[in-house]
Amino acid sequence: MRLDKILADNTAFSRNDIKKLILKKCVEINGITAKKPNENAEFGDEIKIKGKTIPLREFIYCIVNKPKGVLSATKDGYYNTKTVLDIIPAEFKKKDSFPVGRLDKNTTGLLLVTNNGDLAHKLLSPKFHVKKTYTVTVDGTFDAVLAEEITEKFKNGVTLKDGTALKPAELKILSKHKAEITLTEGKFHQIKRMFGLFNLPVEELQRTSFGPLKLPKDLAEGQSRLLTDYELEKLKCTIENNK
Ligand code: URA
Repeated sequence: MRLDKILADNTAFSRNDIKKLILKKCVEINGITAKKPNENAEFGDEIKIKGKTIPLREFIYCIVNKPKGVLSATKDGYYNTKTVLDIIPAEFKKKDSFPVGRLDKNTTGLLLVTNNGDLAHKLLSPKFHVKKTYTVTVDGTFDAVLAEEITEKFKNGVTLKDGTALKPAELKILSKHKAEITLTEGKFHQIKRMFGLFNLPVEELQRTSFGPLKLPKDLAEGQSRLLTDYELEKLKCTIENNK
């Protein structure tokens, strides 16, 4: 296969960008600087752009620690606001990569970005009830009575103001203003609306886990990395086991 094609297929760069990178001597095949875009390259080759190895595979899985102010959307239609795809390095995404589910603009934490539509669909489908855990900071206080009442109500499934009946959610109070909540569904502004039922505005929201994936402690906000093979295996097992 041509080098420019294999790289354009396996990164978010356009074929034109790749050609420029090759001509600027930024691309290596098996340790040798590539000279021309039409050089031959195979899937078994180690290809680097600016010293970074490009994974050559059909699907790519990237874990992002989403910062505030960034949209969990693809670029289409959002030319003036940064999306998670803008903050992911080219070698961790492909042209058809997209975020698996949505976090609000000011929610931080774990977001998976992949081009595997089938797996993404299953991870989000209510049929597979994949658990998502968040740390919530509220503008208000969980006194003992309120804490018990909310925990019990969430456990039994609350109904939102618009009549949406929610599935049971697990709540763990962490301090006067902080709690951990685990959901198996993802309705629009779900957590904000759940706490809104108890007049507790959500000040901060961070997703700390998604199925078996945990927000890595060493992944600062705005950073991303590829999923490890072990993490991917666990993700696939979750779908198998929840069938
Ligand atoms: N619930 C919310 O209210 N916001 C999020 O970003 C995720 C869950």
